[in-house]
Formats: sequence, C-alpha cells, structure tokens
Amino acid sequence: MNGMNKNDYACNGGASPAEELSAAKAGGGRSGLSPESVVVHGATPFDPVTGAISVPIYQSATFRHPGLGESTGFDYGRGINPTRRELEKTLALIERGKYGLAFATGMGAISALIKLFRPGDHIIVSEDLYGGTYRLFNEFYSPYGYSFSWIDTGNFGLIEKNLRKETKALFVETPSNPMMKVTDIGRSAELIHRQGGRLIVDNTFLSPWFQNPLELGADLVVHSGTKYLAGHNDTLSGFIVHNNDQTEEKLRNIQKSEGASLAPFDAWLVLRGIKTLGLRMEKHEKNARAAALWLRGHPRVEKVFYPGFEDHPQYALSQKQARGAGGMISFYLKNPKDVPVLLRNLNLILFAESLGGVESLMTYPLAQTHQAIPEAMRLSAGVNDRLMRFSAGIENENDIIADLQTALEQCAKENKE
Ligand SMILES: Cc1ncc(COP(=O)(O)O)c(C=O)c1O
Repeated sequence: MNGMNKNDYACNGGASPAEELSAAKAGGGRSGLSPESVVVHGATPFDPVTGAISVPIYQSATFRHPGLGESTGFDYGRGINPTRRELEKTLALIERGKYGLAFATGMGAISALIKLFRPGDHIIVSEDLYGGTYRLFNEFYSPYGYSFSWIDTGNFGLIEKNLRKETKALFVETPSNPMMKVTDIGRSAELIHRQGGRLIVDNTFLSPWFQNPLELGADLVVHSGTKYLAGHNDTLSGFIVHNNDQTEEKLRNIQKSEGASLAPFDAWLVLRGIKTLGLRMEKHEKNARAAALWLRGHPRVEKVFYPGFEDHPQYALSQKQARGAGGMISFYLKNPKDVPVLLRNLNLILFAESLGGVESLMTYPLAQTHQAIPEAMRLSAGVNDRLMRFSAGIENENDIIADLQTALEQCAKENKE
C-alpha cells in the first residue's frame, strides 16, 4: 500500500503553516512537492550560508551574543540549537503540524507532555501501550494525584463509559503496542473536545509516513524517534508535534527547564534517517505483510495480529485513518516452550528490545517492553507468555521468512508434543 500521496500536503486548498515554512525555506515555488521529496529535503534543503547539503552539526553548548540585548536567536544549547531546530521544523513539516519539539528519548517527550496536566486531572490511556509509558504514569504521577483509566481504546463505547468531568486527555497508541488494536482518532478527538480535553496520539508505530493524527483531530502527537524516524537502531530520540501557540510556549519552557533536549549529533542522525523514511516504511510494510501471511499459515503459530489483514477487527478503520498498516506484527505461539527456542535460533532476525530500524527485531513483550505492567492488566490486554512482537526490517523478505522457518523447525524438534 502506498504511503503519502502527491499533494497530500496541500490540504484544505491552502498551505498549512508547516508547508508555508517549507516553501519559504526552500526559496518559494516548491510547495506541492511529493512527500518522497519532502522527506529528502526537510525544512531547509541546504545551508544558506555555506551551501552545505547536509545540515551542519552545531556542536556548541552556547552561542555568542553580538552585544547586550542583541542575539542571533541562539543562546544556550539546552533551550535551542540550530541542528535540533532544523529537525524540529522537519518533524513539524512531515507530521503536518505547526510546531515540533525534539527530546533525548521518546520517554523524555512523554514526560514533557504529561506536565501540561495537573494533580486532580484524569487521563484515559490505551491499556496495551508501551510499558515505559505505563511505568511513568503509574509510578511517578499517580502518587501525586493524577488519575488514569487503562482501557481498550479500540472500543469507543469504553472510552465514553470511562469519561468523567475531570477527564482532561485521552492518550492512545494506535495501532497499539503490541496487540495492534486501532483507536478511532477522529471520533475520540470529537468526544474529548466536547469537554475541553485533549487527544494525544503516540504515532510511533505508523510514523508520519502512514498516519498524521493532527489532521484527523488529535491535539498532540508524540513519537519515539528512536524507532522509524531515526530508523537505524543507532540513536534515541523523542518528539512532540502540535498546532497550539499557548501549548508551544508551555512545552518550550518545560523542555528548557527539564533539560531532556536532543543533542546536536543525535538530531543530525535523525535528520539523516528521515531522508529515507518513505523508502524504508514501504519496505518495512512489505516485509511485515509477507511475514504475517507466512506466520499465519504455520502450525506452531496460533494467531497473528496485523492491521493490514482484511479480517483484523478494525481493518476498515485502519484503512480510513492511515495510509498503510506499518511494519509491526505480533503473534501468539501455541506452545510457551517454543519462546526460548525460537529466540535462540533466530540468526538474521535479532532478539532485541526496540522496533522500527532497518534490522528485523524480535521482542518478547512479557519480559521486555511490557515487564513494568502488572500481570492482571497485562493478561487482560492480551500480553501473555506466548506473545511475540516482530519489527520487520528492510532485509530481503525471503531471508526473513527462511530465518523464521529455521527457528520454528527447531521448536518442532525440541518441543515435540
Ligand atoms: C510506542 C512507543 N512509545 C514510546 C516509547 C519510548 O521511546 P524511547 O525508548 O525512545 O524513550 C517506545 C519505546 O519502545 C514505544 O515503543
């Protein structure tokens, strides 16, 4: 399935602020570029001073002022850095928002976001989401009077049922991590907006290539940039993208005060990664679909979860709000004893905790990404001792399938029953 389409940026018959910014930076006359070109060139296609095509890494902690009351616009690196700023503008551009903020990690971005709320506020959260987000909210915010309801946000009726007058936000991952449930972004936004709350979408799994939640009504988008945006399993990063001027002021202040800003070299790595986002996402998806189909037919596999399957319960919704199903799948093995054998016998696919990089990774959520979630809640979300999560890389699809086949054959040998 194709990701962004040509002219996707020219929405509502006019240029978005991000588009105007891009056109201005590009010297004008370049709006209407295809998304493939936009990701390659970013917000500023070349350095206007030197002509450098690759954005320079401004490895400087501080910046000289010409005189008292005068500034180049840059003062101290925790608050602002030219390389990071270029990445923030590029993120805003590709996520189709007005503002972008870059943090040292995805958790750094989520930590900043949660500070927009106050003790006494209630937030509804997807029950199967990244375990680190659960840990942050539950261990560090619940004790201070923030309350959270963890529910299946793929079930719209449940969101309605859990809404209270003090509900200030919905925080959703869609597709969810790791069960691939899909939340209706547009309807959820409408619902929470009726009482002045905000919809926050963790868009890590699909990336801006396949889904733009702000255009569907979300107020804030968060990313672990460590994943598809950076794309090479070589750096951590996190982002917030949004459209609101007052929120921007608050978030900038939080970023500057807390100091979890992204370092210049890491910002440059993510900028470089974004250039191939389109190519990579299409290949990740192709490989994920091939692996999902193959696993679905395997006798040692009980069930495969992939929003690109026509029989996925929210297939129609996924088709409506996203331009692709992405590169992530999860599956239940029939026998829990197969888990260690499978993990030990994978060669090409690496047993590691992350996703979205060029290398295919296999994760065991129970012991890794979702370890922080209490057992009852984990099980109710579907994260059991037979669940595997697979992040399809960009290797050859036959090699990926051959690797899965060899490892599952070994499972059959070692666990005969
Ligand atoms: C969906 C999702 N959101 C947020 C995070 C946190 O990002 P980071 O590891 O960059 O802090 C992760 C990490 O795995 C994730 O999978």
